[in-house]
Amino acid sequence: MQRPQAKVETLISTAEIADRLMALSSQITQDMGKDVVLIAILKGSFIFAADLVRALHLSGMEPRVDFLSLSSYGAGKTSSGEVKVRKDLTEEVDGVKVLLIDDILESGTTLAFAKNMLREKGATEVRVAVLLDKKGKRKVPFEADYVGFVCPDKFVVGYGLDYAHYYRELPYIGAVSE
Ligand code: IMP
Ligand code: MG
Repeated sequence: MQRPQAKVETLISTAEIADRLMALSSQITQDMGKDVVLIAILKGSFIFAADLVRALHLSGMEPRVDFLSLSSYGAGKTSSGEVKVRKDLTEEVDGVKVLLIDDILESGTTLAFAKNMLREKGATEVRVAVLLDKKGKRKVPFEADYVGFVCPDKFVVGYGLDYAHYYRELPYIGAVSE
Protein backbone atom coordinates (compact mmCIF):
# COMPACT_ATOMS: atom_id res chain seq x y z
CA MET A 1 0.00 0.00 0.00
CA GLN A 2 1.15 3.52 -0.80
CA ARG A 3 1.69 6.23 1.75
CA PRO A 4 -1.70 7.88 2.30
CA GLN A 5 -1.64 11.60 1.57
CA ALA A 6 -2.75 13.20 4.78
CA LYS A 7 -2.81 16.67 6.24
CA VAL A 8 -1.05 16.42 9.58
CA GLU A 9 -1.30 19.14 12.21
CA THR A 10 1.05 19.20 15.18
CA LEU A 11 -0.77 18.22 18.34
CA ILE A 12 2.15 17.68 20.73
CA SER A 13 5.59 19.05 19.89
CA THR A 14 8.95 17.33 20.24
CA ALA A 15 9.88 19.68 23.11
CA GLU A 16 6.63 19.03 24.97
CA ILE A 17 7.18 15.28 24.68
CA ALA A 18 10.76 15.57 25.99
CA ASP A 19 9.65 17.63 29.01
CA ARG A 20 6.86 15.23 29.84
CA LEU A 21 9.15 12.19 29.62
CA MET A 22 11.55 13.69 32.16
CA ALA A 23 8.75 14.15 34.71
CA LEU A 24 7.28 10.73 33.96
CA SER A 25 10.65 8.97 34.38
CA SER A 26 11.37 10.48 37.77
CA GLN A 27 7.98 9.30 38.97
CA ILE A 28 8.46 5.80 37.53
CA THR A 29 11.91 5.31 39.07
CA GLN A 30 10.72 6.67 42.40
CA ASP A 31 7.84 4.14 42.37
CA MET A 32 9.59 1.09 40.91
CA GLY A 33 13.25 1.32 41.88
CA LYS A 34 16.16 0.52 39.57
CA ASP A 35 15.72 -3.21 38.87
CA VAL A 36 13.00 -3.37 36.27
CA VAL A 37 12.42 -5.12 32.94
CA LEU A 38 11.05 -2.66 30.40
CA ILE A 39 8.84 -4.33 27.82
CA ALA A 40 7.96 -2.27 24.76
CA ILE A 41 5.02 -3.39 22.66
CA LEU A 42 5.95 -3.22 18.97
CA LYS A 43 5.74 -1.51 16.69
CA GLY A 44 4.08 1.69 17.85
CA SER A 45 6.03 2.22 21.06
CA PHE A 46 9.55 2.03 19.64
CA ILE A 47 10.30 5.76 19.70
CA PHE A 48 8.57 6.38 23.01
CA ALA A 49 10.47 3.44 24.55
CA ALA A 50 13.81 4.63 23.14
CA ASP A 51 13.37 8.11 24.61
CA LEU A 52 11.85 6.85 27.86
CA VAL A 53 14.70 4.42 28.58
CA ARG A 54 17.24 7.24 28.30
CA ALA A 55 15.14 9.50 30.53
CA LEU A 56 14.86 6.62 33.02
CA HIS A 57 18.64 6.31 33.00
CA LEU A 58 18.89 9.96 34.08
CA SER A 59 16.61 9.22 37.02
CA GLY A 60 18.78 6.25 38.06
CA MET A 61 17.07 3.20 36.61
CA GLU A 62 19.21 0.24 35.46
CA PRO A 63 16.68 -1.78 33.46
CA ARG A 64 16.76 -4.72 31.13
CA VAL A 65 14.82 -4.15 27.89
CA ASP A 66 12.67 -6.51 25.89
CA PHE A 67 10.08 -6.35 23.13
CA LEU A 68 6.75 -7.96 22.51
CA SER A 69 4.85 -7.89 19.25
CA LEU A 70 1.10 -8.32 19.50
CA SER A 71 -1.70 -8.07 17.01
CA SER A 72 -5.43 -8.14 17.23
CA TYR A 73 -7.32 -9.89 14.50
CA GLY A 74 -10.83 -9.36 13.33
CA ALA A 75 -13.08 -9.48 10.34
CA GLY A 76 -12.47 -6.36 8.30
CA LYS A 77 -11.09 -3.27 9.89
CA THR A 78 -12.46 -3.56 13.39
CA SER A 79 -10.52 -5.34 16.07
CA SER A 80 -12.15 -8.53 17.26
CA GLY A 81 -10.69 -8.16 20.69
CA GLU A 82 -8.68 -11.32 20.12
CA VAL A 83 -4.98 -10.71 20.65
CA LYS A 84 -2.19 -12.89 19.31
CA VAL A 85 1.51 -12.99 20.11
CA ARG A 86 3.59 -12.31 17.00
CA LYS A 87 6.94 -12.16 18.74
CA ASP A 88 7.36 -13.37 22.29
CA LEU A 89 9.75 -12.15 24.99
CA THR A 90 13.33 -13.34 25.19
CA GLU A 91 14.07 -12.08 28.72
CA GLU A 92 13.06 -14.00 31.84
CA VAL A 93 10.41 -12.09 33.78
CA ASP A 94 9.70 -14.58 36.56
CA GLY A 95 10.13 -12.88 39.92
CA VAL A 96 10.83 -9.40 38.59
CA LYS A 97 9.11 -6.05 38.24
CA VAL A 98 7.95 -5.16 34.77
CA LEU A 99 7.05 -1.88 33.12
CA LEU A 100 4.96 -2.37 30.00
CA ILE A 101 5.34 0.42 27.46
CA ASP A 102 2.82 1.16 24.73
CA ASP A 103 2.08 4.02 22.37
CA ILE A 104 -1.61 4.51 22.94
CA LEU A 105 -4.29 3.08 25.15
CA GLU A 106 -7.62 2.94 23.42
CA SER A 107 -9.92 -0.08 23.79
CA GLY A 108 -7.61 -1.54 26.44
CA THR A 109 -7.71 -4.97 24.80
CA THR A 110 -4.01 -5.14 23.91
CA LEU A 111 -2.70 -3.98 27.26
CA ALA A 112 -5.14 -6.06 29.28
CA PHE A 113 -3.90 -9.11 27.37
CA ALA A 114 -0.21 -8.19 27.81
CA LYS A 115 -0.54 -7.46 31.51
CA ASN A 116 -2.27 -10.76 32.10
CA MET A 117 0.36 -12.61 30.07
CA LEU A 118 3.18 -11.11 32.17
CA ARG A 119 1.48 -12.00 35.41
CA GLU A 120 1.16 -15.57 34.16
CA LYS A 121 4.88 -15.57 33.37
CA GLY A 122 5.53 -14.74 37.02
CA ALA A 123 6.28 -11.00 37.10
CA THR A 124 5.89 -9.79 40.69
CA GLU A 125 4.57 -6.42 39.63
CA VAL A 126 3.34 -5.17 36.25
CA ARG A 127 2.95 -1.45 35.69
CA VAL A 128 1.93 0.22 32.47
CA ALA A 129 3.22 3.39 30.82
CA VAL A 130 1.51 4.79 27.74
CA LEU A 131 2.39 7.85 25.75
CA LEU A 132 -1.24 8.64 24.95
CA ASP A 133 -4.54 7.79 26.55
CA LYS A 134 -7.74 8.01 24.49
CA LYS A 135 -10.17 8.04 27.34
CA GLY A 136 -13.77 7.09 26.76
CA LYS A 137 -12.81 4.52 24.10
CA ARG A 138 -12.42 1.49 26.35
CA LYS A 139 -14.00 -1.83 25.52
CA VAL A 140 -12.54 -3.43 28.65
CA PRO A 141 -11.90 -1.67 31.95
CA PHE A 142 -8.23 -0.72 32.00
CA GLU A 143 -6.14 2.17 33.32
CA ALA A 144 -2.43 2.85 32.80
CA ASP A 145 -0.21 3.70 35.77
CA TYR A 146 1.65 6.37 33.81
CA VAL A 147 0.19 8.49 31.03
CA GLY A 148 2.18 10.91 28.88
CA PHE A 149 -0.78 12.86 27.53
CA VAL A 150 -4.52 12.49 27.37
CA CYS A 151 -5.34 12.23 23.67
CA PRO A 152 -8.35 13.87 22.05
CA ASP A 153 -10.62 11.60 20.03
CA LYS A 154 -8.68 12.13 16.80
CA PHE A 155 -6.54 9.86 14.67
CA VAL A 156 -2.94 10.63 15.59
CA VAL A 157 0.35 9.81 13.89
CA GLY A 158 4.06 10.26 14.40
CA TYR A 159 6.52 9.52 17.18
CA GLY A 160 6.06 5.82 16.40
CA LEU A 161 2.35 5.85 15.61
CA ASP A 162 1.37 4.94 12.07
CA TYR A 163 -1.29 5.61 9.50
CA ALA A 164 -1.41 2.53 7.23
CA HIS A 165 2.23 1.73 8.18
CA TYR A 166 3.50 5.23 7.32
CA TYR A 167 4.19 8.43 9.27
CA ARG A 168 5.95 6.73 12.20
CA GLU A 169 9.07 8.82 11.60
CA LEU A 170 7.57 12.21 12.50
CA PRO A 171 9.43 13.57 15.56
CA TYR A 172 6.18 15.00 16.98
CA ILE A 173 2.61 13.80 17.46
CA GLY A 174 0.24 15.03 14.81
CA ALA A 175 -3.49 14.80 14.18
CA VAL A 176 -4.64 13.66 10.76
CA SER A 177 -7.23 15.81 9.05
CA GLU A 178 -8.41 14.85 5.59
P1 IMP B 1 -6.17 -1.00 22.06
O1 IMP B 1 -6.07 -0.20 23.35
O2 IMP B 1 -6.09 -2.47 22.27
O3 IMP B 1 -7.36 -0.56 21.24
O4 IMP B 1 -4.88 -0.72 21.19
C1 IMP B 1 -4.57 0.53 20.74
C2 IMP B 1 -3.68 0.34 19.52
O5 IMP B 1 -4.35 0.80 18.36
C3 IMP B 1 -2.41 1.17 19.65
O6 IMP B 1 -1.34 0.43 20.16
C4 IMP B 1 -2.17 1.63 18.22
O7 IMP B 1 -1.36 0.69 17.55
C5 IMP B 1 -3.55 1.65 17.59
N1 IMP B 1 -4.14 3.01 17.58
C6 IMP B 1 -5.18 3.44 18.31
N2 IMP B 1 -5.46 4.73 18.06
C7 IMP B 1 -4.57 5.14 17.14
C8 IMP B 1 -4.32 6.41 16.49
O8 IMP B 1 -4.99 7.44 16.70
N3 IMP B 1 -3.28 6.43 15.61
C9 IMP B 1 -2.50 5.35 15.35
N4 IMP B 1 -2.70 4.15 15.94
C10 IMP B 1 -3.71 4.05 16.83
MG1 MG C 1 0.23 -0.69 18.99
